[in-house]
Amino acid sequence: MTESVSALLEELRSCVGAQHVLTHDDPATDLSAWEEDWRKRSHGRALAVVRPGSTEEVAAVVATCARLQAATGVSIVPQGGNTSMVVGAVPDASGQQIVLNLQRMNKILALDAGNSTLTAQAGCVLQTLQDAARAAGFLFPLSLAAEGSCTVGGNLGTNAGGTQVVRYGNTRELCLGLEVVTPQGQVWNGLSGLRKDNTGYDLRNLLIGAEGTLGVITAATMKLVPLPAAQLTAWTAVPSMEHAVALLGLAHKTLGAGLTGFEVMGQYALSLVARHMPASRVPLYEATPWCVLLEVSDHESEAHARAQFERLLEAGMEQGCITDGVVAESLAQAQALWQIRENLPMAQAMEGLNIKHDISIPISRIPEFVATTDAALAHALPGIRMVDFGHLGDGNLHYNVQAPEGADAAAFLRANETTVNTIVFESVTRFGGSISAEHGIGSLKVDKLPGYKSPVALDMMRAIKRALDPTNLMNPGRVVRV
Ligand code: FAD
Ligand code: MLT
Ligand code: ZN
Repeated sequence: MTESVSALLEELRSCVGAQHVLTHDDPATDLSAWEEDWRKRSHGRALAVVRPGSTEEVAAVVATCARLQAATGVSIVPQGGNTSMVVGAVPDASGQQIVLNLQRMNKILALDAGNSTLTAQAGCVLQTLQDAARAAGFLFPLSLAAEGSCTVGGNLGTNAGGTQVVRYGNTRELCLGLEVVTPQGQVWNGLSGLRKDNTGYDLRNLLIGAEGTLGVITAATMKLVPLPAAQLTAWTAVPSMEHAVALLGLAHKTLGAGLTGFEVMGQYALSLVARHMPASRVPLYEATPWCVLLEVSDHESEAHARAQFERLLEAGMEQGCITDGVVAESLAQAQALWQIRENLPMAQAMEGLNIKHDISIPISRIPEFVATTDAALAHALPGIRMVDFGHLGDGNLHYNVQAPEGADAAAFLRANETTVNTIVFESVTRFGGSISAEHGIGSLKVDKLPGYKSPVALDMMRAIKRALDPTNLMNPGRVVRV
């Protein structure tokens, strides 16, 4: 280790306390939890894992790294719960990056019932926000399977979507203010909680979805909504993707703003939950290519919700969109149905390494997209397994590919990932879609993005990155290369 790197580590220890700077120097310390991503696509090597306890400590760490960057080559990878799907929050193999993990900054700072807002530190786990909102009679409507471990800072960093976007929008739509440490180590306090503010460039929305490349989010003020009086969940069998899209139209028409969830799940994806999590008891999937999970939220009463839901399901049956269905009769049943949906990512991971996509397509074109892209993939790579599910209400599909049954998944990925991505992304482009609707670019897609984004847009993105982070200190090699 060079003298300047030792000096850097010493300074970082004085910023946050020696016990919060973890390095490989101590052979007993295992840093895998911070160095390896959730999907096990990458295992890097950190110079150190630094765990600040306050905004001031984050600022001190960033300012120290900025000052010693030229001498040490250090850069910073912000990390929350490390549930990124695109290798966005783990260090590369250089041993020169520090992981700035915010999990110690996990406090709810304020709940303003009159303003319907909640302010939390960035390392606060999403479920903690949801629980705090509920305890005060509100709903914080961001919901995703990783909610027990992902943090609000990571949700903002990725502009996470999840299963309630059809009604409440992405994380960006739920955020009213941010506190951010800039790449120079300055603190910008933008925790205004205002719903309207037209005083110049929208810095908040620039930082949201920047994947830690423009600064470190240290706290956020988030919107709350009233808790619905009743929520009902139905699980339906649908005969085709065309019918799933038709059912979505019917659901919008019948339920209006009451439609809070519309998730589609393919037969093979559900079979993986049945195989790897037999306690889940997946309904209906064996006899149908697709199932759709619907949720209605009602501000009047359960009886009102049930009447509306029954009207929808009857119309769906009459029009041939639904061939079979169940409505949860209790909260426990509803939770069990949602659990099956939320188990899909883990079941797929248990099946082995895979190629994931989080694409979006105009909803009307999804059936044709799936048919033509399925055919192109099957032609190019016979035997591959499609693990499809996703947020059909938002036009967002997890259009995932698993190696053929029995194949060596790692070898399959090495040989075919580029081919698969090219077929899928070319098709997405032809159908007017986006190659990432919710997981972001990270390092997995950083070299793909230039092929699918306008050169003008890329130039503007690079200009923003260079202006805010001229030395490329923050999460280099993610989102856009400069
Ligand atoms: P991390 O993984 O730690 O970081 C994610 C990115 O944000 C990285 O680029 C990181 O550098 C940056 N970042 C983290 N903290 C900060 C900060 N404080 N300031 C600035 N940048 C920061 N995503 C969806 O959109 N919808 C889903 O439905 C969904 N479901 C998931 C289900 C599972 C089982 C898993 C494992 C992941 C899922 N994800 C989903 C992906 C993931 O993006 C989200 O879980 C979450 O938004 C990431 O939060 P995190 O705290 O784990 O962030
Ligand atoms: C989901 O919708 O479950 C997530 O985005 C995670 C995934 O794609 O596996
Ligand atoms: Zn998703």
